Amino acid sequence: MSRLLITHAKALLGTHAQGTGPVRGAAMADLPRIENGWLLAENGIITAMGSMDTLPGVEHGPDLTVIDARGRLVLPGWCDPHTHTVFAAPREEEFVDKIKGLSYQDIAARGGGILNSARKLRDLSEDDLYDQARTRLEEMMRQGTVAVEIKSGYGLSAESELKMLRVARRLKGTLPLQVRTTLLAAHALPPEFANDRAAYIRLITDTLIPQVAAEGLADFVDVFCETNYFTVAEMDAVLEAGARHRLPGKVHVNQFTSIGGIQAAVKHKAISVDHLEVMEAADIDALVAAFGMAQDRTTQWVDATGAPPNGPAFGPMPTLLPSCSFFLRIPYAPARALIDRGLPVALATDHNPGSTPSGNMNLVFSLACIQLRMLPEEAVNAMTLNSAAAMQLETELGSLTVGKRASLIITRPVPSLAYLPYAFGSDHIDTVLIDGTVVRAGAALA
Ligand code: NIG
Ligand code: FE
Repeated sequence: MSRLLITHAKALLGTHAQGTGPVRGAAMADLPRIENGWLLAENGIITAMGSMDTLPGVEHGPDLTVIDARGRLVLPGWCDPHTHTVFAAPREEEFVDKIKGLSYQDIAARGGGILNSARKLRDLSEDDLYDQARTRLEEMMRQGTVAVEIKSGYGLSAESELKMLRVARRLKGTLPLQVRTTLLAAHALPPEFANDRAAYIRLITDTLIPQVAAEGLADFVDVFCETNYFTVAEMDAVLEAGARHRLPGKVHVNQFTSIGGIQAAVKHKAISVDHLEVMEAADIDALVAAFGMAQDRTTQWVDATGAPPNGPAFGPMPTLLPSCSFFLRIPYAPARALIDRGLPVALATDHNPGSTPSGNMNLVFSLACIQLRMLPEEAVNAMTLNSAAAMQLETELGSLTVGKRASLIITRPVPSLAYLPYAFGSDHIDTVLIDGTVVRAGAALA
């Protein structure tokens, strides 16, 4: 038995009731809290919490770690549901080209971008890829991330895509954080298939998806549905094959152009639709319709059939990536319009060498508040409960709730929740725990 007792927290935040599913619309601004709180975890699971006047006698012993969190906030750890953290090399030379005026698309047209990363990855050993990604994930854990989704997509051949997914699976087995993996073979068309796009799609649908499913290498499939990348019809084929093998979609849509990807993702019951920087009215309408709520702003999460929260069928989680917009100087996703129409929003880093060389959810927090105009409470729900749901982890993570994993952040002494995104660029995290075990030890442990 190992036990963890946190006492005197300035506040426990995100103390959602048991069974609370992802939150949407007006309910996103509701971040339940317990002032002057205590929290007990046993064997990595939260077993009790309350305010200090209710603290029961807890038997001390060598198996008990006690943390006095006076002046500090305790939050559920960040869940990052969209990353490309396994990659072979950074691309800072393209960054300089962008400063000189080239766009992301210009660089891709010159053979840079995703194809550049694929060339670099092909020659790297599995061990080297693992070591690099491990270093990145260790930094992300110190920054408060307790669960992460990792995509393939820099392989672009059966062999290299499988190599990436094996590396991601090995990271899952060796690091304490929760890892979900996604097959993103449809990230860019490999040059060998320039004259036969259909053959590459068949390689994905008929060979890769069945093999990945049989070997348990991925939880989801993804497609970069975008002008000059993959069409809606091609995404249709990939999502259909994924569904046949129980791999739901998590898709890149509406990053640069609106071509109908959202509508197709809704049709295939994708788990999430990610990016959404370029949204037409019809795209938002399609999401609203998917959640089956027309114009109402009820706070209860229901699907189109009126099923209760946590039912298996609900609309795809709109997942926004503001640090990608920041880095590429492209528009920010219309978070306010989505939330004000009653939709949920999740946040992620998109950590990758081309469009977001940062896995820091704290930066995402600041950008969500500053650029997306999300309230701090909305942003925390979007980075915890909703982002856990965007990778089907909401029953184990995403809130400080009895029965969930004790994966949490203890801040430095701070005046308020809003201070975290407000004082951007500073490190406000003191201690990080995953499953009740310290992964970053700060002053609170002294
Ligand atoms: O999510 N948009 C597509 N994929 C990544 C970028 C990949 C890259 O440039 O290496 C993204 O932004
Ligand atoms: Fe991405």
